[in-house]
Amino acid sequence: MPLVPAKILLDDAVKNKYAVGAFNVNNMEQIQAIMAAAKETMSPVIIQASRGALEYSNLIYLKKLMEAAVIDNPEVPLAVHLDHGNSLETVKQAIDLGFTSVMIDGSLKEDSKTPTTFEENVEITKKVVEYAHPFGVTVEGELGTLGGIEDGVGSGEVNLTDPDQAVEFVKETGVDSLAVAIGTSHGAYKFKEEPKLALDIVKEINKKMPELPLVMHGSSSVPKELVDLVNKWGGKMPDACGVPVAQIQSVIPFGVAKVNVDTDGRMVITGTIRKILTEKPEEFDPRKYLGPARDALYEMIAERMKDFYTAGHASEIKDVTLEEAKAFYK
Ligand code: G3H
Ligand code: 13P
Ligand code: ZN
Repeated sequence: MPLVPAKILLDDAVKNKYAVGAFNVNNMEQIQAIMAAAKETMSPVIIQASRGALEYSNLIYLKKLMEAAVIDNPEVPLAVHLDHGNSLETVKQAIDLGFTSVMIDGSLKEDSKTPTTFEENVEITKKVVEYAHPFGVTVEGELGTLGGIEDGVGSGEVNLTDPDQAVEFVKETGVDSLAVAIGTSHGAYKFKEEPKLALDIVKEINKKMPELPLVMHGSSSVPKELVDLVNKWGGKMPDACGVPVAQIQSVIPFGVAKVNVDTDGRMVITGTIRKILTEKPEEFDPRKYLGPARDALYEMIAERMKDFYTAGHASEIKDVTLEEAKAFYK
């Protein structure tokens, strides 16, 4: 199957009440782990790259790795997505690279820090939709802002999504999916105490727009065993805390069709490499620690695919090219 537009995956997920995992990547091992997990669990999947990831890979390396992922795993329905696009220029760059889905995070200005007004968000998001749809490319918008600034994305202020404004936003912009702010944040330190998400916001938006795929950012669970793995082998991540999987599962039936996970992957890779290098200080062949890190990432991602009820849904996805997808948006 060639790369499909994310809309194909997300619409099927809403209809069948599961969520597609969207996993961030920067290198070959991460892509291989994600594809192997998707193949093993028969899951559709979204691989996403941030602007930082594109820069790190000098654009062309990630592009070619994505192409390799398709060639190596033709049975996996895969969409390639730009995470947190901040301008029309970044979106154009991603579409030029062959991405089948883009996010425009118009909730923040181009600096990815300063919150925008509703009108400014509508204006930039609409421009991106007008540009992307003729290419058959899916567009994710964001309304409301997440908390947290750990990874450089975010204002540090939480501004939960207003369901009535969400209806107006979707109507005015024509986005295919909407990232909602319900109290999560990026990174490993999401909560100081028991996580309390505004799950009712999801339910209310879903009631108003039952067919609209919703996106949960900042969805890493940061489970205790991952924190322990990192800390046991010399890491220092005290008080790391994420979103319990059960809380994500409770909103998946209400239109949450895309769940973004980056931090859990970073932690499993780091913890595994720390363990190996500590146990075998004589080791200096990168394959001897990158390989096991890739295996551990594969395990974690396959588990999330089951947690998000994605496993087994690959066979339902129709093979739709970007050329054919142009018809959706007329
Ligand atoms: O949204 C943030 C993702 O975790 C990507 O992070 O910008 O450090 O690549 P990054
Ligand atoms: P985490 O930091 O919780 O993994 O969130 C990732 C994300 O939302 C990427 O857009
Ligand atoms: Zn995000």
